Amino acid sequence: MAVSTPDKTSNMSSAEFTSAVENVFHQYWGGHYEVVKTFFGQPRDRQQLIDWLELQLYKEIHVVPEIARKVIALYEKLDVEIERGEFESECYELADEAQHYRLLADILEGITGQRRSALVFKPTKEQVDLEAVRNKYANSTPLVRSVGGFSPGGGTAFAAAGSMIDGGPVERQLAEAFKVIYRQELEHYNKNRFVFDRLVREANPSEYAEALQYARELAHQHFILRNASFSYPLSPERIKQIAAGEVTRYIPPSLY
Ligand SMILES: [Fe+2]
Repeated sequence: MAVSTPDKTSNMSSAEFTSAVENVFHQYWGGHYEVVKTFFGQPRDRQQLIDWLELQLYKEIHVVPEIARKVIALYEKLDVEIERGEFESECYELADEAQHYRLLADILEGITGQRRSALVFKPTKEQVDLEAVRNKYANSTPLVRSVGGFSPGGGTAFAAAGSMIDGGPVERQLAEAFKVIYRQELEHYNKNRFVFDRLVREANPSEYAEALQYARELAHQHFILRNASFSYPLSPERIKQIAAGEVTRYIPPSLY
């Protein structure tokens, strides 16, 4: 697997490695925030809002059966290999994603006046590319895989910006939906960070290079997807600047 500067990364302390991973994500999460703020900062075509909602509905609902299958697998090992807390947290995550779907599907139905099957919402090319990045690292070490747990941080940044939008009835409903999504993604992110931080302490520094490479690919593609999903509110030049670190970073707050 392609990794960058292995010698340098394997000499990092666990604290330096953690901070390098955080830096990658904080930079691109600043980009997520800017995408949403820019999109809702000016009047937009109704169709752009519908296109974003359709993709977002896919993102929210397609994970529900995946989590359900995981819950069944965990149930088979519950109180033998699997902790009750881990089982409980997966069940809550399933319910949270179902709620995000319900909140946003209600809004889309209000805009179009049509009820549609949950199965009609499909991934875009950028979403497929994001899933390919995740699949590429799906069989790596527990530390490398736990980098995927940073994903809800992007959701936190995007929903934080969305919570502050104002305007007509649709914008006000969206802001309320974003507040729910924000709180729940923040919880998912903090829980995932707990797992990541523990694995960093257990891992061999030789794993750092691959984990950092995954962080860079995941954070970058998630940001590209976010901009595409809102019909490109940020220009290609602005995307380059953000990728070069010229952006106000977004750091999710600690929960407690
Ligand atoms: Fe969600």
